[in-house]
Amino acid sequence: MSKLRGESFSDEEGSDYITEPKSERLPALPTDPYAAAIDSDVLQLGSIVETQERFDPCMDDLLGKGMLLAGSQGTGKSNIIGLVARSAGQIGMPFLIIDFKGEFYTLTDVVPNGIVAGHPDASDQFSGGFFPLTSENTAELAQILMEGPFQVILDVPSYNGDNDEVAAVIANLLHALMDWSKDIKRQGGDPWPCLVITDEAHNFLPERKPLSALVMQRPDESFGSMTKAYSRMANTGRSFGYTLLLATQRLPNIAKWSIANLQTKVILAHAEKNDLNACEVETGGLVDKEVIKRLQQGTGVVMGFTHDPIIVHFDKQLARHVSVTPKVAHLKKQFSHSRSQQQDISKFMSTKYQSSLAVNEYVNTPVEPVNDRECPVNIHEGEETINDQNTPKFTPEQSAEVLKAYGILLKSGQAPTRNALRIWLYENVSKAWNTSQKNYDVFKAICDEYGL
Ligand SMILES: Nc1ncnc2c1ncn2[C@@H]1O[C@H](COP(=O)(O)OP(=O)(O)OP(=O)(O)O)[C@@H](O)[C@H]1O
Ligand SMILES: [Mg+2]
Repeated sequence: MSKLRGESFSDEEGSDYITEPKSERLPALPTDPYAAAIDSDVLQLGSIVETQERFDPCMDDLLGKGMLLAGSQGTGKSNIIGLVARSAGQIGMPFLIIDFKGEFYTLTDVVPNGIVAGHPDASDQFSGGFFPLTSENTAELAQILMEGPFQVILDVPSYNGDNDEVAAVIANLLHALMDWSKDIKRQGGDPWPCLVITDEAHNFLPERKPLSALVMQRPDESFGSMTKAYSRMANTGRSFGYTLLLATQRLPNIAKWSIANLQTKVILAHAEKNDLNACEVETGGLVDKEVIKRLQQGTGVVMGFTHDPIIVHFDKQLARHVSVTPKVAHLKKQFSHSRSQQQDISKFMSTKYQSSLAVNEYVNTPVEPVNDRECPVNIHEGEETINDQNTPKFTPEQSAEVLKAYGILLKSGQAPTRNALRIWLYENVSKAWNTSQKNYDVFKAICDEYGL
């Protein structure tokens, strides 16, 4: 174990995996109002709204039961993950956070052995310990995570949209963790507890594939392997030490089987009718929709730790919260000197961004509907197909790449309106329509420009 706490960690073959690991357990932060509770085995969560008493359940009451965190955007799910993770870290418990949005790396400041795992090319984006993770070396990370023990943040955005690799990494890592514990048991040992936390879990475990924001080249294979790995952990992980926590914005979008076994639940505010209905089902009808609708940010109904549901106001986590909602005051501060100035857009545009300028023009210009037969890309609700009549000369591989890029653009919200982008694609692509390489180059340029 001590070999994990040196200048760098080397495995038996001698290859370096982690640089600059956090070596010692951090002292309680001076600003921590609950410092006294550190090193006791509690989950420091918050206070009961009705009585103002602290609500810091025993960590053991979570282990093996699992937790569902459900709430609309901005209601405080990630904040709660931060609280749970910090409490686990303070006890020295290993955890894995599957970080869909890349917002939890700051937790490495408040847990003793926190590291980020991500695509090997992303190593210089993180200042602390980093594990370059591919689908090939997940067993090494699983061993380090459990034996360190380390608190690992798996940074999904570092894979830059290669979501088939993300799926393979997650599936292999979950299996590797299970296999590690299985080996320990076979050798007569007892594995110790580990939390496996997935934020925005509906993207990894969607009720139906189109409900995930992850665009895959091989969706059947990729979702299939993730589902198998999560299912193995959800169904048999308890006795191997694993406790699943799944957070989601949309209860109807997450696979029902995946949340069926989670026995503790935090339901934060929801507004949409289907979501509220799903919340009522989740609480077994014990909590009224009106109560859920009116919950304030950071306040939720907690079930599973106590006999009856209770309403808890959660603490604000100590780690710097990356996913804050930018407010008008910040905008005013940033641009106070130039608020009334008319800006010349061309000053901001390098040649590299000429095509985005073209896109912007289309966004701002009212557009006529395009005749489907003239347009090289046919767009139907939820799917994109190349129109054969215009005989684009893409190879199947090129087509797949183009459609992937286009799909990601639409889903990421970076793209202008569907119709405007369609015209833009038509005009730009059809000019070079007879030269397949040029078509391909245009789409590659789109990908590069948007950092896809
Ligand atoms: N208990 C709390 N006390 C104070 N502020 C909070 C609390 N919970 C959340 N916030 C603040 O609310 C904002 C949104 O919180 P958070 O990112 O946790 O929401 P979320 O439900 O994860 O949102 P999303 O679905 O968009 O990921 C953040 O600025 C956070 O600091
Ligand atoms: Mg969040």
